[in-house]
Amino acid sequence: MLVTEQEQLKAELQELATRHGRRRDALLPMVQEVQRRHGHVSSYAMQVIADLLDIHPVEVHSVVSFYSFLSARPLGRFVIRVCRTISCDMAGKDRVARQLENDLKIKFGETTPDGQFTLEWANCLGMCDQGPAILVNEQVFTGVTPEQVHGILEQCRRRFSAHALAQTAEHAV
Ligand code: FES
Repeated sequence: MLVTEQEQLKAELQELATRHGRRRDALLPMVQEVQRRHGHVSSYAMQVIADLLDIHPVEVHSVVSFYSFLSARPLGRFVIRVCRTISCDMAGKDRVARQLENDLKIKFGETTPDGQFTLEWANCLGMCDQGPAILVNEQVFTGVTPEQVHGILEQCRRRFSAHALAQTAEHAV
């Protein structure tokens, strides 16, 4: 991370800490906001948050590693989480997982080189009677079959192209 980026992030975190009251209970809202804005919570961000809230950096690390929606490493634009809990396991989550790995040419815990997709395991998503269940960012898909995987990925790619196109149009105005 460049020095200027670090300074920018530090200023952002100072503003967040002020907004949330510079207390220990500001920790979760702060890391959630950093995750939302930057796609992950870097070691540098964790250190600054610890300093600002006057807590040990280990506390920040444990919060980031405890919650599956937080990540210490950069994730792809689309994070695909496959439920690996028992009902989805019995409903065939392995076949869906293999298909995702084959289509994206990455393993679970990895991100595609273009930064578009990350594959992650998840625990029960609360859709146990409709497994296998997967979560693509905030969207849940249930009863997923390996045959549907291609369509789900295409849907993400189309959504990204539409978004990129809209941004280009916006900048052209
Ligand atoms: S076991 Fe997969 S959603 Fe509950």
